Amino acid sequence: MAFIELKNVSYKYPYTKDFALHDLSCSFEKGKFYGIIGENGGGKTTLCNLIRGLIPHFYLGKLTGECLIEGKDIREWDTAELSSKIGYVFQNPFTQISGIKSTVFEEVAIGLENLGVPKDEMIERVIDVCNQLDIGHLIKNNPNELSGGQRQRVAFASIIAMDTDTLVIDEPTSQLDPEGTENVFKIINTLKHSNKTIILVEHKIDLIAEFCDEILVMENGTVAFSGPAHEVLTKRELLEHKASIPEVARFGLAMEDAGKPLERVPVTLDEAYKLIKERGR
Ligand SMILES: Nc1ncnc2c1ncn2[C@@H]1O[C@H](COP(=O)(O)OP(=O)(O)O)[C@@H](O)[C@H]1O
Ligand SMILES: [Mg+2]
Repeated sequence: MAFIELKNVSYKYPYTKDFALHDLSCSFEKGKFYGIIGENGGGKTTLCNLIRGLIPHFYLGKLTGECLIEGKDIREWDTAELSSKIGYVFQNPFTQISGIKSTVFEEVAIGLENLGVPKDEMIERVIDVCNQLDIGHLIKNNPNELSGGQRQRVAFASIIAMDTDTLVIDEPTSQLDPEGTENVFKIINTLKHSNKTIILVEHKIDLIAEFCDEILVMENGTVAFSGPAHEVLTKRELLEHKASIPEVARFGLAMEDAGKPLERVPVTLDEAYKLIKERGR
């Protein structure tokens, strides 16, 4: 059984006319790394809100269809219980920072405090996560006085610290420079290898290609394409959609068009390099 299963889900935010999700069906299995891509306004964040139970428990509106987490409908889940299973890093780090804590340390510890984690363990975990995310030097600073990129890392740290089995991460790198982005992806990759289920919304397609097992392409509130990363990212149909595919995949498809196909269409530079080297032999 899939860990998260959506069947024919439609959802409309209150006071809006159009559906943000429209007849959407998909499923997520434990331990896999999912990338969600697609146009702005396609419904990616709304899907995250649903999986985390903010829809329908916080956002009212009209929800139809089934959304099952471990077989139990989202409408029946207690949100506090769900938050101990599914960590959610919001797209906008300003939403996530509580505003009530005076240091980064306290801010990152907030979830652990709610879970009742013993103090010594809490201190150790917070410091460890802050160092991983390169905000160790900021733990005494006021979270309200940080830059966007720093806030994004603090928001991320507070969720990683909770050590949930599943992480829903909505555009964690939108405020970060290339180096910060690379760093966050390394951390996400480490989380993946610790057997967590990861659902990541991200526009940086090369990083998606490098790390994700499965991909969902969202368009108009529904899943337009889904499947193993390699299969989805080499689809010709995607060239006609607003979702992007890696440049090397475009190159691979162009080689096919030119009648000089590589053994397969690559999605990462490394893969392209190997395929070209093999062909050279
Ligand atoms: N809080 C909200 N209230 C009303 N409409 C919303 C809200 N959040 C998103 N929407 C609408 O829902 C649709 C999907 O948006 P969203 O899930 O944010 O897409 P994405 O994350 O893919 O950019 C859009 O039409 C957007 O305007
Ligand atoms: Mg979004």
